[in-house]
Amino acid sequence: MTAATQTLTGRPAWKALEQHFQSIREAHLRTLFAEDPKRGERFALEDVGLYFDYSKNRITEETLKLLLQLANETGLRRRIDAMFRGDKINVTENRAVLHVALRAPRGESILVDGENVVPNVHAVLDKMAAFSDRVRSGEWKGHTGKRIRNVINIGIGGSDLGPVMAYEALRHYSERGLAFRFVSNVDGTDFAEAVHDLDPAETLFIVSSKTFTTLETMTNAHSARDWSLQGLGGDSRAVAKHFVAVSTNSAKVSEFGIDTANMFEFWDWVGGRYSMDSAIGLSTMIAIGPDNFRDLLTGFHEMDEHFRTAPFERNLPVLMGLLVIWYSGFFRAETIAVLPYEQYLKRFPAYLQQLTMESNGKHVTLDGTVVDYPTGPIYWGEPGTNGQHSFYQLIHQGTRLIPCDFIGFVHTLNPLGRHHDMLLANVFAQAEALAFGKTAEQVKAEGTPDSLVPHRVFQGNRPSNTIIVEKLTPNTLGKLIALYEHSVFTQGAIWNIDSFDQWGVELGKVLAQRIIPELEAKTEPKLEHDSSTSSLILRYRQLKEKTS
Ligand code: F6P
Repeated sequence: MTAATQTLTGRPAWKALEQHFQSIREAHLRTLFAEDPKRGERFALEDVGLYFDYSKNRITEETLKLLLQLANETGLRRRIDAMFRGDKINVTENRAVLHVALRAPRGESILVDGENVVPNVHAVLDKMAAFSDRVRSGEWKGHTGKRIRNVINIGIGGSDLGPVMAYEALRHYSERGLAFRFVSNVDGTDFAEAVHDLDPAETLFIVSSKTFTTLETMTNAHSARDWSLQGLGGDSRAVAKHFVAVSTNSAKVSEFGIDTANMFEFWDWVGGRYSMDSAIGLSTMIAIGPDNFRDLLTGFHEMDEHFRTAPFERNLPVLMGLLVIWYSGFFRAETIAVLPYEQYLKRFPAYLQQLTMESNGKHVTLDGTVVDYPTGPIYWGEPGTNGQHSFYQLIHQGTRLIPCDFIGFVHTLNPLGRHHDMLLANVFAQAEALAFGKTAEQVKAEGTPDSLVPHRVFQGNRPSNTIIVEKLTPNTLGKLIALYEHSVFTQGAIWNIDSFDQWGVELGKVLAQRIIPELEAKTEPKLEHDSSTSSLILRYRQLKEKTS
């Protein structure tokens, strides 16, 4: 077996980590901190404007040494270089993976099949900027001559979650004279509620879909066109003023009736969940303006450069990714909580769910072998402090190990009395409580009755990272997103999986296409499903008939 084909669990570093795990699994963070008064500084790193404290993890120097060895043995450097070079590292789709090219400065050169893609990236950004300026200034008029007041992005998955998250995250920087809404679900309620108080004459739809074939998006786009035309007197020329498209598929865009002059292009080397900084970010650019959008791209790029060039032991995404490997592979942690202490980041965990789980929810390696180690953990979270009054109980005292990422900002965008110090006090307190807990002795010393002592003990030893950033800006948001993107890359490279395909979403889509006509058929369809699915379909049809 060559080094490249060696299975992960057979590698010397993995075997050494297994042994090392036995010696460290019971070690308590209390002890690790007591033994090393400088641990809080030694296991912390500051770069590209992010302070990353990873000292409250169940690791020692030896753990890090072995994890870094694992990164080297699995060829992480080679994989990073291959991505930045434009190699077709998405092997199951035979595609390059070049979201890093979306934020490459003008003048850089990144080749895909021999063609430098950076000039095209900037041509689209320029076209987006010109369009955004026209909408923001009111120069772009609707069919009746009214200016646009509402922008609705129609998309799903990567064509929705990034735009929603970025709009919420950067709302402070947004043009408040425009309303932004996002429609994703095929559930008609999503569309109905998004438009119920809007005037079609003032509403612009951005139909965002890489493929322009996605069931949810195309269904919503058709409903949007009907709603628009109905409200604008049925003149189909109105579509040109009220619909633009973001896609890789110009033929389908034309077929829908959108002039390709009003189409913003991206490319098959941009994965959906890595596309929020491509033309998929058009709603973001209209909201925050082209200059802020470029600032966002600069932030992404700074983190890209850090990831590409920093030595692994000082590389933020690499360290973060290695810690995920450590907890999932050895402690068998099933989930990771992302806890931003910043209200504007309320959709950040939801965004990360697609980024992390669609990327690394894989059960076979690049060559199709079933893995014998856990891959992508479940990511979830809520902004603090709300989560503290909901699920933190389980993180503190439950039976599961849940590594947490705390994210806090030094300056708030909305200074209000003592709020911000209180917020940050909670970040620090939660990480402290999780790590160090409260012993039975401490609980008893407070005069707690014996019967209550076990209930009030905090075992501690619950790991976390704390990320501190000066201020939430477009630039720092770009850095944070790229940090997670590259952490996901690091994990996937070590697990030797394809982090850039998503075959797991296909089967359900295909089966739904088969079931739709069975639900709509006027005459009783011949059902050939399993008995459960057939009964459900039958029951739905009967009840629909009876109660309609
Ligand atoms: O859910 C699968 C998926 O293909 C995602 O990867 C993608 O982000 C989403 O659907 C939307 O796809 P599209 O942009 O082609 O409409």
